[in-house]
Amino acid sequence: MILVSGNGKLAKELVELSTTETPIVSLSKKDMDITNEYIVSDVIKKYVVSPNPPKYFIHTAALTKPMKINDINPIDSLSVNIIGVGNVARICQKYGIKFIYISTDFVYNGDESFNENSSLLPTNNYGWSKLGGECVTRLIDNSLILRCALCDIPFRHRVAFDDVYRSSITHKATASIILKLKDEVGVINVGGETTSVYDFVSKHQEIEKGLSNKSVPSINMNINKMWERLRDE
Ligand SMILES: NC(=O)c1ccc[n+]([C@@H]2O[C@H](COP(=O)([O-])OP(=O)(O)OC[C@H]3O[C@@H](n4cnc5c(N)ncnc54)[C@H](OP(=O)(O)O)[C@@H]3O)[C@@H](O)[C@H]2O)c1
Repeated sequence: MILVSGNGKLAKELVELSTTETPIVSLSKKDMDITNEYIVSDVIKKYVVSPNPPKYFIHTAALTKPMKINDINPIDSLSVNIIGVGNVARICQKYGIKFIYISTDFVYNGDESFNENSSLLPTNNYGWSKLGGECVTRLIDNSLILRCALCDIPFRHRVAFDDVYRSSITHKATASIILKLKDEVGVINVGGETTSVYDFVSKHQEIEKGLSNKSVPSINMNINKMWERLRDE
């Protein structure tokens, strides 16, 4: 069995890949509020003593959208994106469950092409909180950090920027890559070819083209390690 925290877009795509042999079960905030360490412990323990106990935990739950909610409510950001990660990671370590943390390309900032060893410098509270979750994950044996450049399709905004470049990837494609990489450890960038957000979104739906006035950073991730590991798989 694979357990997934949250019931958002990525969690739903992961559950779609559930099979009889490897069931994938997502835990909504109602099932398991990750900010409550006692609830986290009780819920995961219940699965540990079940006939098909979890071998992997994919941590997708986060305070995410809109990103600026993390600037408006920094203490909620800390509780969910850092302490919440700690609550889950600690129990996974206790029961020997592989902990897979879904991070973001927003831990990077600058004009270079970022590989997994590049320096990190988030530009907003969301990025800092997700980097906090990465720090938690680094302390856990046998863990994996996947820095994903997820782009919501359907796109959530009226206009897609043609002057912002990202290594965007859909939630569906990411879910199947996560399952292929689940036995890796360390850090892996997960994304697609670096293109403008407008070019990426318009491959999937009709969208109006716009300019950002440089208010949103471009982030170019090097995804060679992801392809190497997928080739070895
Ligand atoms: N989408 C992006 O732009 C993007 C980019 C890169 C990385 N990521 C990362 O990828 C992961 C998945 O993203 P997504 O697009 O699937 O996000 P999403 O659709 O916003 O899903 C997040 C989920 O986390 C849940 N959650 C929030 N607080 C919780 C709590 N206290 N306890 C338990 N669950 C809680 C939410 O539940 P409620 O809806 O009930 O609040 C929701 O089900 C996240 O970790 C995100 O940081 C996202």
